[in-house]
Amino acid sequence: MILKETFTLSNGVEIPKLGLGTWFINDDDAGQAVKEAVKIGYAHIDTAQAYGNERGVGEGVKNCGAKREELFVTTKLAAEIKSYKEAVHAIDGSLEKMSLDHADLMIIHSPQPWAEFGGKERFLEGNREAWRALEDAYKAGKLRAIGVSNFQKPDIENILESCSVSPMVNQILAHVTNTPQALIRYCQEKGILVEAYSPIGHGELLKNAELAAMAEKYGVSLPQLCIRYVLQLDLIALPKTGNPEHMKNNADVDFIITQEDMAQLKNMARIKDYGKAGVFPVYK
Ligand SMILES: NC(=O)c1ccc[n+]([C@@H]2O[C@H](COP(=O)([O-])OP(=O)(O)OC[C@H]3O[C@@H](n4cnc5c(N)ncnc54)[C@H](OP(=O)(O)O)[C@@H]3O)[C@@H](O)[C@H]2O)c1
Repeated sequence: MILKETFTLSNGVEIPKLGLGTWFINDDDAGQAVKEAVKIGYAHIDTAQAYGNERGVGEGVKNCGAKREELFVTTKLAAEIKSYKEAVHAIDGSLEKMSLDHADLMIIHSPQPWAEFGGKERFLEGNREAWRALEDAYKAGKLRAIGVSNFQKPDIENILESCSVSPMVNQILAHVTNTPQALIRYCQEKGILVEAYSPIGHGELLKNAELAAMAEKYGVSLPQLCIRYVLQLDLIALPKTGNPEHMKNNADVDFIITQEDMAQLKNMARIKDYGKAGVFPVYK
């Protein structure tokens, strides 16, 4: 059962393969979503300073009935923070908001502030500063693991050249029709676990007829096919939903996609338009 399966990070910490994404679950609903998810068996929750729901997620973690050590909570340092001092303050701020004495994983949300996402400036010095703050919080026991998100190869090289603790994960956009294979391979070679965000293409893949037909062939839902796809690439899957029926469905993925179908999924035409979500930098 996928909810019981874990990967082991480079520092030996275990991370559940399936996590609950919480982007667009508002602060007042996040606690209930965490409680529902934990009741179903989820042990891994993904939030971020930018989602504005760390308080609600923390409340859910405290009151869901599971022991703290049974859960894996990830949060993200805001993309705009590129100095040591601000990063230290923001890390402590996240723990305070969540009312937790530690997070299981904290990652730099993006190498570039969102307003400059995809631009030429890579903020190399600012990312080294932010990374140093994560390292210090890790060494102080406030974070059990640290990592990055949306980092390309040069951004990772920048950290690897100067760090005392190597990043343990890189959380990136990875889904059927958009699988950055070279970056995944590079991370895996460096011992960095890759987490797939938006595994259902932020919902846009639900409209894909070719995928619907393949899902039908396996007797599964389209989201199940999408989630199984990233898991078979040895990636963490982080589907978002606040709906308990969808949570159950997304966790019921104990089927195998054939190598032939995996190849077809890898090569499917890329989503050109993420609909309304196209305004967000990660989909531009
Ligand atoms: N690091 C980053 O920069 C970054 C960027 C984007 C996302 N993320 C993380 O990745 C998580 C997931 O990505 P995402 O939120 O973009 O989207 P996603 O998980 O790819 O797709 C979510 C959409 O799929 C629907 N859905 C989920 N399960 C379903 C099911 N079983 N049946 C039917 N519909 C289903 C959801 O609707 P319902 O809610 O109605 O179920 C929602 O509309 C985020 O929540 C966040 O934690 C990180």
